[in-house]
Amino acid sequence: MAQIIGGITTSHVPSIGGAIARGLQNDPYWKPFFDGFVPVRKWLAETKPDIAVVFYNDHGLNFFLDKMPTFAIGAAPSYRNADEGWGIPTLKPLPGYPPLSWHMIESLVEEEFDLVTCQEMLVDHACSLPMALLWPDQNWPVKVIPVCINTVQAPLPSARRCYKLGQAVARAVQSWPGDEKVVMIGTGGLSHQLDGERAGFINKPFDLAFMRSLIDDPTWATKFSTHELVEQAGTQGIELLMWLATRAALPGRVSQLHTNYHIPISNTAAGLMLMDNQA
Ligand code: DHB
Ligand code: FE
Repeated sequence: MAQIIGGITTSHVPSIGGAIARGLQNDPYWKPFFDGFVPVRKWLAETKPDIAVVFYNDHGLNFFLDKMPTFAIGAAPSYRNADEGWGIPTLKPLPGYPPLSWHMIESLVEEEFDLVTCQEMLVDHACSLPMALLWPDQNWPVKVIPVCINTVQAPLPSARRCYKLGQAVARAVQSWPGDEKVVMIGTGGLSHQLDGERAGFINKPFDLAFMRSLIDDPTWATKFSTHELVEQAGTQGIELLMWLATRAALPGRVSQLHTNYHIPISNTAAGLMLMDNQA
């Protein structure tokens, strides 16, 4: 049985890619953000996961408004990081693992999560940059299963539904007969709003309460409607749904190993958590 060893949740912002390309990790603007990843990289070097399930939200690169799945999953042998503008360099393709993808698809569809199955899938900054933050040499030591949740076009899946998806993903992984170690990764949030009258909106008390809830009361955020979450976290802050799915995909005894929170990176409150999952 595959073993779920823990979860990592982080914000994503395209300008992180520019900072990496220009070597700005120790620049005063960037240092408090990049330094947060040092303990997480140490944990990854010690625990050596074989597989990463990455919950992320596409921003219009692979899916556009004409065809927008609520949930999608990759079943490709590799995932290319296409040029999405912003001046960020593309990264080496992420290796996939179709046998596990298809096992997860079988299990999830059986559990009535009818995801769109993608045998080709481009990934954007939400998937590629967290990988580059976690493995800066970009020699990916894990195979990747991307799970995409729509946060772009209404209606969005509820927090409750995303929590259930995470739980179902955990069951799918745990029923895989291989003995691989699996890390759950979720990228998005925390509070930010890029458009409209509230552009620049950040809500630190809510972010900190949300982060705490993942350890103390993991279903806390599921009591909010999508509108309430947007009110609290901003139109793009709703990306916190990736954190919720990731936490729900940790089925054991969960403890917090590391956390970082820094305002702002671009327009975003940048959060980071490392959670241990003990059987
Ligand atoms: C920013 C944040 C995002 O989540 C994103 O996808 C794009 C841009 C930002 O803060 O600039
Ligand atoms: Fe985003």
